Amino acid sequence: MLITILGSGLMGSALGTAWARAGHSVAFTYSRDRAKLDQLARSAGNSAIAAAPNETVPECEVVLVSVPWHRLDDALETAGGADAFANKTVVTCSLPMRPDDSDLAIAHDTSGAEELARRLPGARVVAAFNTIPSELIRPPLFDIASSERPEVLICGDDRRANDVADTLARDAGFTPVHVGRLRMSRWVEPFGLVVGQLAYAQERGPALGYRFLSYPEYPMPDHPLPVHIARGDGTLAATVSVYGGNEVEENGALLEQFKTDAVARLVPGMAFAGTSVQPSDRGQHMAAFTFGEEHMPEPLEAFLEWLRRHPAVRLIEIQYSTAET
Ligand SMILES: NC(=O)c1ccc[n+]([C@@H]2O[C@H](COP(=O)([O-])OP(=O)(O)OC[C@H]3O[C@@H](n4cnc5c(N)ncnc54)[C@H](OP(=O)(O)O)[C@@H]3O)[C@@H](O)[C@H]2O)c1
Repeated sequence: MLITILGSGLMGSALGTAWARAGHSVAFTYSRDRAKLDQLARSAGNSAIAAAPNETVPECEVVLVSVPWHRLDDALETAGGADAFANKTVVTCSLPMRPDDSDLAIAHDTSGAEELARRLPGARVVAAFNTIPSELIRPPLFDIASSERPEVLICGDDRRANDVADTLARDAGFTPVHVGRLRMSRWVEPFGLVVGQLAYAQERGPALGYRFLSYPEYPMPDHPLPVHIARGDGTLAATVSVYGGNEVEENGALLEQFKTDAVARLVPGMAFAGTSVQPSDRGQHMAAFTFGEEHMPEPLEAFLEWLRRHPAVRLIEIQYSTAET
């Protein structure tokens, strides 16, 4: 692909170099220092050139917009204005920061990517690379197994543009993650600042990446629970923690019903360790029940089955211990 880098600073030079090395034709543009662009092109390899924006934007397939937000209008104008971008894929990594980089200049009900798309109505705008520090874009990424490479978030409304961003993410050593429509940039751009905070204001170092991991779901009421009852093992005990969904907090009657039902279900020897509605990362914590082994397994099994079917219950967690109950 023929790619114009509009803004050849930290991001533009790193991405352009990676793409040139991956075999794309890259033009480094929009710097106040032409000698710097020449040097960048030389070090990126044979397929790279230095140019003025209006020399290459009208000819290329893809433009990377990698300028500070307060330079955006000037950069677009220098490239030839909106018409020069018609029918092109425009990948933007620009975050709409205030000139002093202290905060986002726009957010919540719009995003930098959407504003760029408004300025370039004929272009296919896709947002990518705005949540990774430039220091991460380095050849050692390719030494990492492809299944473990850092991810990069992509937001866009056009399938072809999203596919281009996908390819360019892989060609720079990242795993693309498609978040959704360009509108999602409203949520993604602030996340870029979170990454910046972790990369530059803490001690992890700037070459910071992220991966979103999927973990197995916790047992849910409709799924079989992994109940392993060990009998005759001294003082084995089980604590069953019960969590409900948000409706438990909103609907106090549901919790009261749960408490009444639970107490009515208890068999002698089962300790009702309490009910409380407390937010936790697994839902609203509703109750914990602790059982000694002498009450297992049938009462426990039956009780768990009842819990699974209770409308207030979303998650049941069981911990076994050998401590005295
Ligand atoms: N750096 C990161 O890690 C990172 C991460 C995510 C997103 N971003 C976003 O990506 C965009 C580019 O960031 P960057 O760090 O690559 O920026 P940068 O290093 O400051 O590069 C900006 C580019 O714009 C050019 N430019 C031309 N006229 C300019 C002027 N009057 N004032 C300032 N720059 C001018 C600069 O030219 P010169 O060569 O003459 O300086 C340079 O090529 C920004 O929107 C930023 O928010 C950055």
